[in-house]
Amino acid sequence: MDTQLLYKRLALHYLNAIKAGTLTAGDRMPSVRKLMALHEVSLSTALQLCRHLEAQGWLEARPRSGYFVRHPKRIRLVPVAEPISGAPIDPAQYVGIHERVSAIIAQGQRPIKFNLARATGAPDLYPETELKNLAIRILRHKPNLLTKAIAPGGNRELKNALAKRALNQGISVAPDDVIITYGCIEALNLGLRAVAQAGDVIAVESPTFYGLLQVLESLGMKALEIPTSPQTGISIEALELAMQTYDNIKAVVVVPHLQNPLGSIMPDQHKQRLVALCEQQHIPLIEDDSYGALVESDLPPTAIKHWDTAGNVIYCASLHKILAPGMRVGWILAGRWHARITMLKYAQTRYNEELSQLVVAEFLQSSAYDRHLRRLRVALSSQRERAAEAIAAYFPPGTRLSVPNGGVSIWVELPNQLSSRAVFEAALEQGILVSPGLLYSNSNRFNHFLRLNCGMHFTPELDEAWRTLGDIILQLGKRPLSSAA
Ligand SMILES: Cc1ncc(COP(=O)(O)O)c(C=O)c1O
Repeated sequence: MDTQLLYKRLALHYLNAIKAGTLTAGDRMPSVRKLMALHEVSLSTALQLCRHLEAQGWLEARPRSGYFVRHPKRIRLVPVAEPISGAPIDPAQYVGIHERVSAIIAQGQRPIKFNLARATGAPDLYPETELKNLAIRILRHKPNLLTKAIAPGGNRELKNALAKRALNQGISVAPDDVIITYGCIEALNLGLRAVAQAGDVIAVESPTFYGLLQVLESLGMKALEIPTSPQTGISIEALELAMQTYDNIKAVVVVPHLQNPLGSIMPDQHKQRLVALCEQQHIPLIEDDSYGALVESDLPPTAIKHWDTAGNVIYCASLHKILAPGMRVGWILAGRWHARITMLKYAQTRYNEELSQLVVAEFLQSSAYDRHLRRLRVALSSQRERAAEAIAAYFPPGTRLSVPNGGVSIWVELPNQLSSRAVFEAALEQGILVSPGLLYSNSNRFNHFLRLNCGMHFTPELDEAWRTLGDIILQLGKRPLSSAA
């Protein structure tokens, strides 16, 4: 078995024992020698298992005594609250997030020391050398690649590779069903333009990725925000109710895996119900799978598109977060809107340039891609746990968070309705950029939340930045409400 999988599986075995109370704080872990004999593994696997649990805060190494169980501080944190069921849904009237987002982004465009606002990992978590070497080799073989006209229809090898990889998520499509786009954001634009027009209402998760709210605003469409669980994603009951209340919903957009900003993952049963509901109501369903490959599991999660037999699901994805933040390679499986979206893509931006498509195609065809994803997930897992531990240690009591099962972000609820805008401003003064919750809804409901990045390597300097952020929140919390708003 792959040693990465083996040590992680064994780590989970011991983690379950700790969580179940079989091993309690202060208990000594079996020695490395004993672990080797018990599980018939090598010294390096036994050590990796202990170091992995140590990095996550579940074990501590004591000099010359071995590893001991500890209970990390974060397990005492309360998860972010579930949305109140039956609460009235915001009418889809408000348009105007653009200015809010642009103002925040503009404010952040200055030298900063720690960017806790981004939604990608540190650059060296991606295969920079392999991708660079591939690009050089491809340009050597095709010296006129940047000067000759681009072949129409998207690169064939890339479409093949993506169709083959989609099989692992339960999607069976032909390479010609794949339309290459500039990132997932173009895929979403195209999907929305294919099924709706200005003035239409689009049901979205609440909170949701502000980029989607910007796209809707720029297309003149209105977002209808549907309550969404930090654990299981969009509430199907609330969506059903919204469909009965509003007769002008023209599409539903969801992020089923590691939703941005919540980190929720929809159970397969919900995905099936959602597909059936949208099909029955004749409402197109747009699936944004930007983060599926980052879910912590041996097998990739099944896409919503798997259950689509009527062509009613438009699947949008990209490699921007999972393979190459410096490239804009995305794609769309357009269901029954394939011809229309092909036309819209051509009218909007023509075909993507070939170099990035060729680089990515070659990488996806090799096992290096699987290795990269496994490594990325392992690195993000321990960084996420360290970030959560820092929040538990430095943020004031009353802070709530749910640590998602994968990904690069943590959604944090601040105590006493503290304004995320005030935290944003004060943190910026200290060279720390955070993403305030007010960006993730057209309403003000999430103003006391922050989305924080855990994609950076956890260094002592970063630990200090988390401490500073905790202090800022603590100090702002002591001020009277009006001055902290
Ligand atoms: C949920 C979600 N969808 C789409 C995008 C945009 O993706 P891309 O950068 O591939 O265009 C993002 C980026 O943050 C995202 O979080």
